[in-house]
Amino acid sequence: MFNAFYNRLVKYKLVVCGDPLSKIIKFFSKTIYYFPGFLRIIYSRYIMRWPTVGVFPGELYLHDKFWERRLKVSTTGLKDTELHDGLRYEATPYLLIRDIFDRMALTEDDVLVDLGCGKARTLCFSERFCKAKLLGVEYDNKLADTAKENLKNTAVEVSCMKAQDFDYSKITAIYLYNPFGEKTVAAVLEKLHQSLIDNPRKVKIAYANPVHDDLLASLDWLEFEETWSTKQYPHFYVFPRHGRAVSFWHTKI
Ligand SMILES: C[S@@+](CC[C@H](N)C(=O)[O-])C[C@H]1O[C@@H](n2cnc3c(N)ncnc32)[C@H](O)[C@@H]1O
Repeated sequence: MFNAFYNRLVKYKLVVCGDPLSKIIKFFSKTIYYFPGFLRIIYSRYIMRWPTVGVFPGELYLHDKFWERRLKVSTTGLKDTELHDGLRYEATPYLLIRDIFDRMALTEDDVLVDLGCGKARTLCFSERFCKAKLLGVEYDNKLADTAKENLKNTAVEVSCMKAQDFDYSKITAIYLYNPFGEKTVAAVLEKLHQSLIDNPRKVKIAYANPVHDDLLASLDWLEFEETWSTKQYPHFYVFPRHGRAVSFWHTKI
């Protein structure tokens, strides 16, 4: 493509092959020619987040850094939980959050809860583009305090409690990033089911690193939608290595 463009410059005698000045012109014309493309990549990958992820090694890290600065929050790091059946704090990569929320397509009538929201990265980020009412539940006091601090200029509410004690009666969407073990997942689903008996409605579920999605599959009131493979998100490590990045479900009405 660039060669065709450069040949035109030669044709119109704007450059003469071999001439030192022409070499400089060639260098700058190449820069000018490719610069919009470069800007487009920056715009699409870091602002619009399209089309793919994980092409460049370390991109996920850079993307996380970019959004931490932009949102002026600190949600990185790991923290073990005291809960017997709970799993440690670790934030969802920003790249994945955007895709998950786009896929869930929530409206202003939806109420989403992030179960085990930790320092609330998911909520801080999605609050910028998601129309739904957002809530967080976190058992760890310190993490919940950090979440509240990170969300202090927003309408997002965080409750410091166990997910199995939360009131699901108004919830229409749930986000989980592998926050707890099988027993707690079962208890949470039971609580959700009870709320559906009282108030039947569609509840969308996005489960990142879905270690216990066989449990969801065993429930006849839940409908499976799809699972994204970790091949789509090569820098999103799931443990154990089951190869599933996110699974999507909804309740049958
Ligand atoms: C993997 S982190 C997910 C963080 C956040 N959702 C995100 O995507 O960035 C799991 C979180 O769940 C919390 N957690 C574990 N068991 C819990 C429970 N039973 N109730 C509420 N929070 C719990 C942990 O303290 C931890 O912060």
